[in-house]
Amino acid sequence: MPDLWPNLVVALDLDSEQKIKNIVAKLTPKVKKFKIGPVAYTRFGPEAISWVHKKSAEVFLDFKLYDIPNTMAETAKAFVDLGIWAFTVHLKAGRESISTLTNKISKYAKEKNKRTPLVFGVTELTSKEASLEQILSLAKEGKEAGVQGVVCSVWEAKAIKETTGLLAVTPGIRPSYAKALESKQESSADDQKRTASLADAVKSGSDYFVVGRPIVKSDNPYKAAENLIESAF
Ligand code: C5P
Repeated sequence: MPDLWPNLVVALDLDSEQKIKNIVAKLTPKVKKFKIGPVAYTRFGPEAISWVHKKSAEVFLDFKLYDIPNTMAETAKAFVDLGIWAFTVHLKAGRESISTLTNKISKYAKEKNKRTPLVFGVTELTSKEASLEQILSLAKEGKEAGVQGVVCSVWEAKAIKETTGLLAVTPGIRPSYAKALESKQESSADDQKRTASLADAVKSGSDYFVVGRPIVKSDNPYKAAENLIESAF
């Protein structure tokens, strides 16, 4: 049975410092990666990143950059300085913006003797419907522009990996219906459209599973994470 804990990324979309710190304390050291996006970063800024780093876990910064080449690259240089593991860009920002960014951050990181964060390209949001053709063409463009991975739904992960060889990062993971009933969570009562179970995510070859609310809104986040991992086998 493979150990899936290192592949679980818990999304900290929370508005309370106490809640974030509690969840990070409860889930580490088992959970090694946390995703911070606009919900937490707008309130707490780089401090939120330090709460995760203090527990020896890594940060995936999810701002989904979509801008002109210079603005994207300059923002990403600040990400290098924050010491994060990975961050996201919208692949729809286009080849020029993304390749400028990937070239500039690797140069900047070398100059500063820091590691270069991984760049993950968002194809389509998992809260929206999308065609596989559209997603594969965005993924190919991302690869040419130098991204290391693609954020996609579980249903596209296999095709993306086969076509591009990029890492597949899959949000929209939901407990199976039976597990959802056990933990009194409605598996479909939210905004995610292209959802899948963790078992399907594993079968798809997904490299990282991003899970937010099923874990962070649970009364017992550790148990919810453990149940989810066990549900994959
Ligand atoms: O709470 P939930 O499990 O739906 O969280 C999923 C996380 O993944 C959210 O932070 C959301 O912003 C993010 N995400 C997504 N779909 C994408 C890219 C990122 O749901 N395509």
